[in-house]
Amino acid sequence: MPYTVTEFCADLSATLKAKRESGLPEIAAKLSVLLSNPAFVADTFSDDTPIGRRELWHDPDTGVHVLAHVQEGGKAGKPHSHGASWAIYGTARGVTEMTEWRRVNPASEDGAVLEKSAEYALGPGQTRAYGSGIIHSTAHPRKAWVIRVTGTDLDAIPRYRFRAKTDKIVGRV
Ligand SMILES: [Fe+2]
Repeated sequence: MPYTVTEFCADLSATLKAKRESGLPEIAAKLSVLLSNPAFVADTFSDDTPIGRRELWHDPDTGVHVLAHVQEGGKAGKPHSHGASWAIYGTARGVTEMTEWRRVNPASEDGAVLEKSAEYALGPGQTRAYGSGIIHSTAHPRKAWVIRVTGTDLDAIPRYRFRAKTDKIVGRV
């Protein structure tokens, strides 16, 4: 039997309760299995699904949210972290271009100086977990369908977001 979203959500909640943030790689692997189920993708997205996000599931016990995003093509986001919340990103269709960043100056200084630490693409069925505080940015050269799992609803208010006036990017990968 293909792996369903109901099974994924049950596994997600159980893994978080048992292992907390150390269970994230296991959850990311299960999200890959879910994304490889064509019935899940077809039930969740269609070509008519508008650009934007919608909630597939929220677990009041653990605070976790499972979100389905339709990303507009040709868009790139700014570096950000989700503060105290972790996140798992997975692609259902299209490609998510992911960049991870590290801050190379002390947090006590006003502006952040960021350096790329990794750059890779997440294609269909590929997922990755990001622990709390990891600075990352996403780009979607073409329209993409993305599932994102976040640890809390604080996701909407990232603790860090790149500010062009005071922050800068140095170096290369
Ligand atoms: Fe993010």
